[in-house]
Amino acid sequence: MTTIQPTTTATTDAAAAAAPALVRRFPEGFLLGAAAAAYQIEGAAHEDGRTDSIWDAFSRVPGAVVNADNGDVACDHYHRYRDDVALMRELGLDTYRFSTSWARVHPDGGPANATGVDFYSRLVDELLDADILPWLTLYHWDLPQALEEQGGWANRDTAFRFRDYALTMHDALGDRVKVWTTLNEPWCSSFLSYTAGAHAPGRQDVEAGLRAAHHLLLGHGLAVQALRERDESLELGITLNLTVAKPVDPSRPGDVDAARRIDGQFNRVFLDPIFRGHYAGDLLADVGHLGLRDAIQPGDLEIISAPIDALGVNYYHGESVSDEPAAEPLEGQAPTDRPTRSPFPAADGVHFHPQGLPRTGMGWEVQPDGLRELLGRVHREYSGPAGVRLYVTENGAAYDDEVATDGAVHDVERTGFLLGHLDAILDAIEEGTPVHGYFYWSILDNFEWAWGYDKRFGLVRVDYDTQERTIKDSGLAYQRVIRERGLPA
Ligand code: NOJ
Repeated sequence: MTTIQPTTTATTDAAAAAAPALVRRFPEGFLLGAAAAAYQIEGAAHEDGRTDSIWDAFSRVPGAVVNADNGDVACDHYHRYRDDVALMRELGLDTYRFSTSWARVHPDGGPANATGVDFYSRLVDELLDADILPWLTLYHWDLPQALEEQGGWANRDTAFRFRDYALTMHDALGDRVKVWTTLNEPWCSSFLSYTAGAHAPGRQDVEAGLRAAHHLLLGHGLAVQALRERDESLELGITLNLTVAKPVDPSRPGDVDAARRIDGQFNRVFLDPIFRGHYAGDLLADVGHLGLRDAIQPGDLEIISAPIDALGVNYYHGESVSDEPAAEPLEGQAPTDRPTRSPFPAADGVHFHPQGLPRTGMGWEVQPDGLRELLGRVHREYSGPAGVRLYVTENGAAYDDEVATDGAVHDVERTGFLLGHLDAILDAIEEGTPVHGYFYWSILDNFEWAWGYDKRFGLVRVDYDTQERTIKDSGLAYQRVIRERGLPA
């Protein structure tokens, strides 16, 4: 729903004509930012002591990444971070969400590497000088390969190593960084990575995926406890990719049960342990025997449910599910010829149905209202009762951008996507769901995991031959939103 508010005080006709007609304003203090992640933009994969992460190793597996792309150079952000922060400043970002590379900070998972840590210290200083709030994520999928060789996230010990790494980062940046996210999208770094094999390390083992999910949660809880002990004033949280799973036909029990299972194995598998200190009974009935029960040790759930301050929701699209096959299968799920399997540990017979809506370049349907619905549900059932601040830490779209003859990128669809989702957030706020910020994914075009450089999500185009950056029309539209603190008519 859109509420038209009177425009602000334009005094002359000319000023009135130049001023954008504002439709809706963001609440005071709402953060407007953008995000990126270490492996996807930094490059410098073999510099200053950094060793392989699982993504370096996985990128070398034939067929694992489209065009055999890798993050060796990426956006060369490691060398160009000053220019990139200048672009962020030009766009007017309130905040920038970035991740640190564990393999840069603890090469081979061993002792801390001062040169690697120093990069993040310089980045943080640059952000602060530009008046941009640094929002740090500790784990955005790039586990040191040496730790994978010891079992990776399927090995319980990795959770404790993660806590140590969190403390290394706090030693270096705790005086300047106040917002800390432990994990980005643990669903991907467990189920897509260890069960489906679509992401690094490319394992296809249902039990390893469930153990990984539990150990990621344990690592999160251990890091939260350790950081909290260091400094009570930090804003600590986690980012989850959540979805709205709807039965295709709510009157069909098979469809309703399919939606329940997807909700369990996508959303509640993380939300319940974090906010309620237990895994839901129905989830345990579905997947407990597949390695999850065995992974849980006494005391784990108390650690995992250590109080947090912020929940980040990453939202791209919802799911319509049924126990009957769709007439038209959902596109865009398998980027390469490499065989992968379902990431859901126990969702045999669940089918995903396209709704006939417009799609992004990933094949994902554009469903902004799902974001309103999702935020409302998460607030009612989880973050609200816990008094935890809710943010949208990722939302964005890939499209086949073209550079026009005027040198610009007129990405009308991405602009529509961005404004539509911001509008949905304002709908959520109007309905009584407090949302405190939004991060567009991504500030730059970058390495889109198994899709390599084929998919461009950026507000800023990157020419990978020259590393030239060009702000797209969507970036200019966002700049205006940030400047005006509201949406244009
Ligand atoms: C989620 C991830 O956090 C990010 O790394 C990825 O590029 C975007 N979604 C788009 O798929």
